[in-house]
Amino acid sequence: MRIQPANRRLGILLSGRGSNFEAITGRIASGKLNAEIAIVVSNVESAPGLERARVGGLPAVYIASQHRPREEFDREVVEILRDQNVSLVVLAGFMRIVGPVFLNTFPYGILNIHPSLLPAFPGTEAQRQALEYGAKFSGCTVHFVDDALDGGPIILQSAVPILSDDTVETLSARILKEEHRIYSEAIDLVLSGRCEIQGRRVVISL
Ligand code: GRF
Repeated sequence: MRIQPANRRLGILLSGRGSNFEAITGRIASGKLNAEIAIVVSNVESAPGLERARVGGLPAVYIASQHRPREEFDREVVEILRDQNVSLVVLAGFMRIVGPVFLNTFPYGILNIHPSLLPAFPGTEAQRQALEYGAKFSGCTVHFVDDALDGGPIILQSAVPILSDDTVETLSARILKEEHRIYSEAIDLVLSGRCEIQGRRVVISL
């Protein structure tokens, strides 16, 4: 099945720093990524990423997620995304699991980036996990989101070495640089209709 979003309008969901979001806006601004940020949504009111969006003049909203049933939160966010005519949802450090309401509204329409070479080291603190495990390489993965934690079909990965004097901080910085590069590349591949799902595989056409 070929994935072809209806338009190039992105909905960014974030909970924190927002450096991936910023890298994506940078690519758009420089003309390297043909896309438009329709809306930025954060479930954390104090998220620096939300502030960055506002400073950049982008539509940005805070939707509270704490002490609320997941479905209620999901419905509210999905409604906003639909109102903004979003066709691709980009999770950029969004610290919540997206539920069935989301997945059913955007089938193969939600992307995530994870700071490890999946399926190794899913979940939180992936860089620390890799370091403590003693892996010699780690990296990052952009994947479609499905109902498995960090488990959907992989679009792009980038590997980096783990050096003997690495700390979580130095490794995270090395990986983050690659995250900033491949997230925009993966978004472009999806928006350009170059991704075909074959079982678990995402086959990319030239
Ligand atoms: C990144 O490491 C990303 O891989 C993970 O959350 C972090 C978000 O960082 N999902 P930022 O908010 O984009 O700077």
